[in-house]
Amino acid sequence: MSHRTRVLSGIQPSGQLHIGNYFGMMKPMIEWQEKSDLFCFIVNLHALTTVFDARALAGNTLSAAADFLALGLDPEKAVFWVQGDVPEHTELTWILTNVTSMGLLERCHAYKDKVAQGLTPNHGLFAYPVLMAADILLYQAHLVPVGRDQKQHVEVARDIAGSFNHVYGETFVLPDPLIDDQMATIPGLDGRKMSKSYDNAVNIFISREELKSRVMAIVTDTRAVSEIKDPDNCNLFAIHRLFASAEEIAELRGRYLKPGLKYSEVKKELIDRIWNYFAPHREKRAELMKDPDALSDILKTGAARARAVAETTMSEVRARVGLSWGR
Ligand code: ADP
Ligand code: TRP
Repeated sequence: MSHRTRVLSGIQPSGQLHIGNYFGMMKPMIEWQEKSDLFCFIVNLHALTTVFDARALAGNTLSAAADFLALGLDPEKAVFWVQGDVPEHTELTWILTNVTSMGLLERCHAYKDKVAQGLTPNHGLFAYPVLMAADILLYQAHLVPVGRDQKQHVEVARDIAGSFNHVYGETFVLPDPLIDDQMATIPGLDGRKMSKSYDNAVNIFISREELKSRVMAIVTDTRAVSEIKDPDNCNLFAIHRLFASAEEIAELRGRYLKPGLKYSEVKKELIDRIWNYFAPHREKRAELMKDPDALSDILKTGAARARAVAETTMSEVRARVGLSWGR
């Protein structure tokens, strides 16, 4: 992979971040900072579609930024900012919305799922993929690492870029989604996709007590201790493997395939593994939260760097569509 490949992704500050977010999105992003031109941001404008509590949104935005930095994102290596601090995102959204067909948006699973779950479909929820396309195209990103559930949205961004280029001439890079198959869907406590909306998540930064009660609530089958277990159809095993080395996984698998394994013991081991895994990050996070001014300086610097790139794209886009009249 060339060092100049531009990799971009964002995460919503719509609640506390969980280990599905970490393994599905944050960890791969943090790895990208070593080998690409990385753009990473907190998408607070997207969160406006579902969060209507100003304090909660502002608090979660800062908290998500602290999480990312504590987990290893380096603002010197990556451009790291809060989406709403760069107004070009909304400007490009409006321009792109005019080369986006209704049908393209009507086919989006995420929108259809949210409506099916009973969410009142405001226009923001419907137009969500256009804002996401603007996020990606504004920075001429080549690769967009996301969980499987976001793949369609990246394809929509690619379609919108194609339409714009077709109408106004070659302007945008066509982005590709990047999905790590190993990490594609992290299961939650009940075996469904881990998600804050299913109340089946284990948050990254929680107290040991809370961690214990979440892990103890992982659903397992009803096989007796004396029976052989099935590691490949066990979400306790699937979560465990994220925190263990190859040898530790092989050892655990061996125990599943012999009589005598107690799920409660495996759960206790998992509590320790998760707790220890995030221990250094927990300390770093506590340090960051002690100095909110330093944290907002990091984000302001990031926004200025992002904005410089966004402005270059927007000057071209405004000229292409005829908004730079008289100049
Ligand atoms: P949630 O479902 O909890 O609301 P989001 O939709 O905000 O999570 O997801 C933020 C990012 O984390 C996305 O890139 C998404 O694909 C990834 N992600 C979320 N949950 C999982 C999961 N269970 N497994 C893998 N990736 C996930
Ligand atoms: N829609 C994404 C999610 O919910 C977040 C997001 C917004 C995003 N803009 C983006 C991801 C641009 C990648 C690129 O997870």
